[in-house]
Amino acid sequence: MYRIPLLLCLVSTLVAATALAQDTEAPARQKRTPSYSEEGAASCLRCHSGPDMRAVQSGPHFNLQNPGAPAAVHYCESCHGPGSIHVSRAHGGKGFPPLIEFGRGPDKAPREEQVAACLNCHGAEGEVFKTIGFIGSPHDRKNINCSTCHTVHAETDPIYDLEEQAETCYRCHRKQRTEHPHFSARSMDIDKLSCSDCHDVHRPWATAD
Ligand code: HEC
Ligand code: HEC
Ligand code: HEC
Ligand code: HEC
Ligand code: HEC
Ligand code: HEC
Repeated sequence: MYRIPLLLCLVSTLVAATALAQDTEAPARQKRTPSYSEEGAASCLRCHSGPDMRAVQSGPHFNLQNPGAPAAVHYCESCHGPGSIHVSRAHGGKGFPPLIEFGRGPDKAPREEQVAACLNCHGAEGEVFKTIGFIGSPHDRKNINCSTCHTVHAETDPIYDLEEQAETCYRCHRKQRTEHPHFSARSMDIDKLSCSDCHDVHRPWATAD
């Protein structure tokens, strides 16, 4: 079992060594292509079993009634990418290439990779659910990620909560807290409306025209 990968490793290390003077191990390992692991979420939960991991399983992405939901496709790996190398005990979670890690910062996956992981299903060419657009919208043009506004490791994404949503928006749109246009129509109680009742933040025409 272990001899074949080792041999491959040595051979590709030799190849890599003839090219550039690089880190001897990493490039060789990166040549191995991971596949989806066979046991679905179980192969991840062995090591990742905290409350956030239970939360995502209570949320809409694990709705088995929906044939397009990650739980009906590759479970966790529908978003995080194929994990056969990552899950192998031999690597103890440090397998290469790394899984897609969401968020901002140098230790996270490149932004395009993160956005593509979600748009695989939610993009214009996605086969499930509503398509959301997003590419080319003002938030996309400013390099804002899906996970800046969305939390998927939650039973219910807090973005659906009136106040949590407003707080998420005010993190960047500070002035709107006090300077947002006021509406005098008595038919409208602005405090009871979400920002998203008037603004579709995924769309190029994000202003409420
Ligand atoms: C053998 C234990 C183990 C298994 C099984 C495992 N992981 Fe990990 N995982 C780890 C460890 C340890 C880290 C931290 C690695 C580090 O800090 O460099 C990690 C890190 C991660 C990260 C952060 C990004 C990264 O690559 O550092 C994600 C996302 C992740 N795992 C998802 C998964 C998914 C999805 C599965 C199932 C396909 C899975 N893990 C299975 C041990 C495991
Ligand atoms: C719908 C896409 C999606 C699915 C399905 C999903 N994740 Fe995640 N995962 C994310 C996002 C996005 C984050 C960043 C935090 C957040 O948004 O909640 C994350 C964060 C993580 C982290 C933390 C990495 C870090 O920053 O330390 C781990 C570990 C992880 N997920 C493992 C899993 C496991 C295990 C499963 C299956 C039980 C799973 N994920 C299912 C999208 C997903
Ligand atoms: C494998 C396909 C797939 C991937 C990948 C995926 N989603 Fe989804 N997502 C779905 C489906 C299907 C639903 C609808 C589930 C239902 O309600 O039946 C959904 C629902 C949602 C919702 C609505 C939540 C709600 O409470 O109704 C949000 C927000 C969302 N996804 C964000 C994301 C983000 C952000 C990512 C990337 C980190 C992502 N999705 C990746 C398939 C996917
Ligand atoms: C600037 C914040 C923001 C960003 C960035 C963002 N979203 Fe959203 N998203 C929202 C809000 C707000 C809602 C609406 C919630 C509601 O209906 O009240 C929403 C709703 C959704 C829904 C539910 C379907 C719908 O149209 O109501 C999905 C799916 C979704 N977002 C996926 C994504 C994905 C995938 C990305 C990245 C490509 C993304 N979002 C980027 C804020 C954001
Ligand atoms: C991470 C920061 C960030 C978050 C969070 C954020 N935005 Fe934005 N938003 C921006 C930036 C940057 C722009 C572009 C401003 C510009 O081009 O001058 C923008 C643009 C907009 C615009 C104007 C679009 C246009 O056509 O000019 C609206 C409306 C808007 N956001 C609403 C929202 C709402 C509603 C939320 C919460 C659901 C939200 N934003 C969350 C940073 C953010
Ligand atoms: C009743 C509908 C409504 C609600 C609710 C609403 N807005 Fe607006 N918003 C508007 C209108 C109308 C404008 C003015 C658009 C224009 O001048 O083009 C605007 C303007 C904005 C702008 C400035 C866009 C620009 O072009 O500079 C931002 C940012 C914004 N809203 C964010 C928010 C946030 C954040 C919330 C929630 C806390 C919110 N809005 C709630 C209707 C609404």
